[in-house]
Amino acid sequence: MSRSGRARMIDSGRGGMMEGMRRKILFSRETIDSRVRDLAARISRDYEGGDLIVIGVLKGAFVFMADLIRALTIPCRVDFARIASYGGGGVTSGKAVLTKDIETSIRGKDILIVDDIVDTGLTLSYLTEWLRERNPRTLRVCAFLDKRARRKVPFEADYVGFAIEDGFVVGYGLDFDEKARFLPDVYVMEE
Ligand code: IMP
Ligand code: MG
Repeated sequence: MSRSGRARMIDSGRGGMMEGMRRKILFSRETIDSRVRDLAARISRDYEGGDLIVIGVLKGAFVFMADLIRALTIPCRVDFARIASYGGGGVTSGKAVLTKDIETSIRGKDILIVDDIVDTGLTLSYLTEWLRERNPRTLRVCAFLDKRARRKVPFEADYVGFAIEDGFVVGYGLDFDEKARFLPDVYVMEE
């Protein structure tokens, strides 16, 4: 396909790391920034006067979470959990395992889990169950992206940046084999 075609090879600068992989832009950094501000405004209103702890799911959530919490107009604390899903290559295999627990007591607190994407729903349904047992006052989930058509278990995020079709996305924290997390825009990979 030609460079001016729908799919564009990124062949300069840091994009060179993704050499040979076709992708097209899905959300520009400007579009992302504006949507993150909307979400942050909603979350700030909803948690006004509360005692908010934002829990990021490593590694994918770290870029989104950094932008989101800086756009809040209310204070919050942060912590992180890490969930590994066996399989590699980016696709979830069906088994979520907690490899790093949070280090904060969440009993009686308002907890907002932040993740990069809800795909099969396995990661977030596992983590919400895990945290609910510790009796937070409230527990909600904010996902940057939502691939609803891919669910294997029922799961609804309370705040969603963008609902997307099936397709593998990278950038803004999302990786393909640990590559492309650093890209400021979001791309969908093409065959
Ligand atoms: P789950 O299938 O809902 O458990 O999603 C688990 C994790 O898979 C997400 O948090 C992402 O880290 C990863 N994932 C799912 N879909 C994509 C994608 O399109 N790009 C990059 N990572 C993905
Ligand atoms: Mg993840």
